[in-house]
Amino acid sequence: MRVISLSSLKGGVGKTTVTLGLASASFARGLRTLVVDMDPQSDASTGMDVTVGRRLNISHLLAHPRGSQVRNAIAPSGWTRSHKGTVDVLLGSPAAMAFDTPSVTRKEIWRLEEILATVENDYDIVLIDCPPSLNGLTRMAWTASDRVAVVTEPGLFSVAATQRAFRAIDELRRGVSPRLQPLGVIVNRVRPQSIEHQYRIDELKEMFGALVLQPELPERVVMQQAQGAASPLHVWPGESAEEMAESFNSLLERIVRSVALTEG
Ligand SMILES: Nc1ncnc2c1ncn2[C@@H]1O[C@H](COP(=O)(O)OP(=O)(O)OP(=O)(O)O)[C@@H](O)[C@H]1O
Ligand SMILES: [Mg+2]
Repeated sequence: MRVISLSSLKGGVGKTTVTLGLASASFARGLRTLVVDMDPQSDASTGMDVTVGRRLNISHLLAHPRGSQVRNAIAPSGWTRSHKGTVDVLLGSPAAMAFDTPSVTRKEIWRLEEILATVENDYDIVLIDCPPSLNGLTRMAWTASDRVAVVTEPGLFSVAATQRAFRAIDELRRGVSPRLQPLGVIVNRVRPQSIEHQYRIDELKEMFGALVLQPELPERVVMQQAQGAASPLHVWPGESAEEMAESFNSLLERIVRSVALTEG
């Protein structure tokens, strides 16, 4: 089982969108997929069409990390109603906010890693949708991860924000979790005709070289449509959806190679 965090220090740049797109690609590829909704806004849980019912959620597990309870906080995505396969969600909750504090203890920082260890044999890939901060929840997510992808828009402050994120990843790797590595930067919401966007992308490439992952993701209305319907992108009709699905397949392929994931 390989674990990937989708992060950014800025809000609204597309972490959840990229998490859902990659989950859709991974589901379509037949990988057993778990999405962990670490963001108290719980957008990923909504986007994956889960019925919460009387289940526990991530905040219960973080408060009392008991292995026997982990399965009770995981729900199958509604995506499996129309297509066969495994794609589950470790449910998010606004109550997780209590753990998003600037300082986390040595013990707390390993909590998500401990939680995920109990489902190690059940999934091929775990995608963690992180909150837009560098606080406790993100640190727990990174400590449980093999790779972190930093999501950014091609904007004025994207180089600086990405640099800060990479520096933080490096600090955590040296101080806490040696296996952690940056996967790269995923550039989202690109308007291909925009000269400004092209300029910012060139700037990112100059700074980060091959760490700028290809392809960049364009801004497409279909992303919001599929999300609004809580549908996986890979079954959404139309050419635009197909093009985006292809892009997510390529990004997933890069991830699979980067973590040397062997597919059963
Ligand atoms: N490539 C895209 N094309 C069109 N719309 C997009 C694209 N990426 C993201 N969006 C839209 O932008 C909004 C913000 O995206 P998203 O929720 O994924 O960002 P986020 O980084 O997870 O935000 P937060 O920091 O609040 O968690 C959403 O309405 C989403 O549908
Ligand atoms: Mg989000």
